[in-house]
Amino acid sequence: MIGELEVAEAPGSVARPAGARNGMSSMKKVFIKTYGCQMNVYDSERMGEALAASGYGATDTPDDADLIILNTCHIREKAAEKVYSELGRIRDIKEARAATDRETVIAVAGCVAQAEGDEIVRRAPVVDLVIGPQSYHRLPDLIAQRRAGAKAVVETEFPEDDKFSHLPARPLGAKSGPARSPAVRSASAFLTIQEGCDKFCTFCVVPYTRGAEYSRGVAAITDEARRLVASGVREITLLGQNVNAYHGQGDDGRARSLPDLIRHLSDIDGLERLRYTTSHPHDMSDDLIAVHCDTPKLMPYLHLPFQAGSDRILAAMNRKHTAAHYVGLVGRVRAARPDIALSTDIIVGFPGETDADFEATLNIVRTIGFAQAYSFKYSPRPGTPAANMGGQVPELVKIERLARLKALLDAQQSLFNAQCIGRIMPVLFERHGRRDGQLIGRSPYLQSVHAEAAPTLVGRIIPVEIADAGPNSLSGVIRAA
Ligand code: 5AD
Ligand code: SF4
Repeated sequence: MIGELEVAEAPGSVARPAGARNGMSSMKKVFIKTYGCQMNVYDSERMGEALAASGYGATDTPDDADLIILNTCHIREKAAEKVYSELGRIRDIKEARAATDRETVIAVAGCVAQAEGDEIVRRAPVVDLVIGPQSYHRLPDLIAQRRAGAKAVVETEFPEDDKFSHLPARPLGAKSGPARSPAVRSASAFLTIQEGCDKFCTFCVVPYTRGAEYSRGVAAITDEARRLVASGVREITLLGQNVNAYHGQGDDGRARSLPDLIRHLSDIDGLERLRYTTSHPHDMSDDLIAVHCDTPKLMPYLHLPFQAGSDRILAAMNRKHTAAHYVGLVGRVRAARPDIALSTDIIVGFPGETDADFEATLNIVRTIGFAQAYSFKYSPRPGTPAANMGGQVPELVKIERLARLKALLDAQQSLFNAQCIGRIMPVLFERHGRRDGQLIGRSPYLQSVHAEAAPTLVGRIIPVEIADAGPNSLSGVIRAA
């Protein structure tokens, strides 16, 4: 699974359909709000592109939209509940609009749509369309169906055919253009190569909301990667709920592994950096570890969730690895790529977790030393085995454990960042900073780096000498290459 944007960035990012533009009054407008993981960010972009192909432009505000899509997350209760409070606000917009002649179509997409289906329309009758992640290519059709009928449309099937082959090809866009032109992509893009999960960790809804593991073929991925590069992308993050279980078909019909795919994509001229997320320890093959050593375009960063430090809890979670296995694995990854930055996901307060179990979690963190991490209180999810387990941990205990864990993780992250001071790092500049003349980019270790830099350096990888480090970012000075 994937560390959530709630932690990494502000939630609720807005996808802008490529090729569409704000402010064109005759055009219908769509507002897409994204919750949750990077896979939802990717899906929102693809939905935006599918809608652009059928004439929708983007808007940054729901007040101005003919179509409002909430692309939702179901991983924890809080994430799912946010959707209903947002729908309350949207109902007011729709009611205000009813007085005018403009209709507003409200769609709920993503994992809440998949998990709750009809229940969403029952709880929030304002919703016109509920669409699961496997059906995004049908979005324009389903909107038309809703317009033609009196009832809300609910589409949460897992169709046999794959949505990717039905979505329009990624627009090529332009390498340069006016600021904020939607045709210009950020220098860094996501590319979903795998969806679904067969692991069935007992706390997790993903195997139910995203279904069985599915890997896209190498040719389709390569084509999409080339299109992204042609539109100015320099860094691609390969996404999957279980990305290192990737086994897509190659041109000869034989399955390819993630390391095969990474080596293949690294041959694309103009693509400078590759990353992948999220991985399961069980699928961390020797070859995948080797690719960290032999493929320079693969960035030295690995997000590898361990969830808990106690073997008893790991077994109850159905994680298929022990604490010792995880520590050994990290040792092998570090032997292959000594400077690798490690990130992880951790849950506190899983049913039955004792103080000693929690200490074991802290011990793994102390043993490994993470560059960054996402930590969560266990949240019982309806339909998952752990929700019905005995020994549910009281909320106050979870809060206290999470605070102790976060303090340790924050200290490790600050230390990792501080150790970068004085180093010269290649930084891929992605966007303008808040201050005039400042750009923000990413180091190889995925840290945000701020530097005074000319706007023409957006989209380029430039050496930066790190002068200062905070808990969440670095700042530095550009050095000649
Ligand atoms: N409660 C708390 N955290 C969870 N995660 C997944 N399901 C739950 C849950 N029910 C966390 C895991 C996963 C990350 C994306 O979210 O740590 O890796
Ligand atoms: Fe969820 Fe576990 Fe699958 Fe990750 S590996 S998506 S945590 S079931």
